Amino acid sequence: MGSPESGMQRNGSGARSGDGYMATALPPTSIKLRDDSNDLPEEQAFYRDVVQGLECRPRSLPSRYFYDDRGSELFQAITELEEYYPAACEREILSGQSGTIAEYLGDDFGLIELGPGDGHKSYHLLEALLSRKASFRYYPVDISAGIIPPLQQNLAGLDQLQFHGLVGDYEAGLQYLNGRERRHVVLFLGSSIGNFSMDESADFLRRLRMSLHAKDLLLIGFDLVKDPSILIPAYSDCAGITRQFNLNLLLRMNRELNADFDPDHFLHHAAFNPRNHAMESYLISLKEQTVSLQDPISCLQSSFTLGCFEAVQTETSQKYTEADIKDLASRSGFRIEANFQDSRGYFTDSLWIADDR
Ligand code: AVI
Repeated sequence: MGSPESGMQRNGSGARSGDGYMATALPPTSIKLRDDSNDLPEEQAFYRDVVQGLECRPRSLPSRYFYDDRGSELFQAITELEEYYPAACEREILSGQSGTIAEYLGDDFGLIELGPGDGHKSYHLLEALLSRKASFRYYPVDISAGIIPPLQQNLAGLDQLQFHGLVGDYEAGLQYLNGRERRHVVLFLGSSIGNFSMDESADFLRRLRMSLHAKDLLLIGFDLVKDPSILIPAYSDCAGITRQFNLNLLLRMNRELNADFDPDHFLHHAAFNPRNHAMESYLISLKEQTVSLQDPISCLQSSFTLGCFEAVQTETSQKYTEADIKDLASRSGFRIEANFQDSRGYFTDSLWIADDR
């Protein structure tokens, strides 16, 4: 990765062709961070990751591919479901306790939000900071340029907000701010950390810590371990939205990888693993079937025979004890400054401070 200055393009100009998200016009206050990695094109990485997951035993598919346009729409619908309590709990925390959180954040900093979505999670906090007349600049970071214009529109009512959208991966976003801001406050809300395994989380948070200064802050959402009778319906709702969200991965592979999955031949199944405190989502093959897919660039084909009732894991949603959160903070170079919980004690937004190294 080059210097932050050299890694910057205004308004997506100079975008490579064939890169869907770069075609979106960015508002003038936003920039596209150059991707200097030698990674495969996105569609080829999708093929590689799917093949890798289906070759493994037990088989799995990476949950990050849930979020095409339809998947993002379905996830938005999930956050409005009665059964999907994490979103409601975090809304309660941020609408009720943002004044107190804003006091902890202080004054004069860059506020970086990783994966801001439509802005509803951070809205109350931004509002509380502005009403305290805190001086800060807001940098939402997302890999998808399509997120930025509607986000800016949703936050348009916050008059004094200094909005600087960044399009790129989280690490490029943090790197860009290094040297530009003396103090950083990072928001990683919505229990997104739960879609990593414990070890992956510690790795990610350690890398995050390395791009921060001592005393910088991180506000991070964790879904707490609770009775499985509350957890299971959250991932298996009556209206079948989570089922559609899970099956949409098959439709995405059909479209983008020329695959031939028939969603009618798969069952959505969500279960709680009491040993590692994780909700696990699966697609279960309802018959023995052979499916094939194709690398969209080289046209190389792969096929897989799934057994009758063979399960393909599509997601892990880790739930945490207070001890897990403390352990994760100290393993990754942070200390817990405060915890903000909802009234049912289901969810916590945990405020961490970067330790001196
Ligand atoms: C994005 N992530 C935190 C959600 C979760 O709870 O693991 C994704 C989700 N999957 C099914 N429902 C919601």
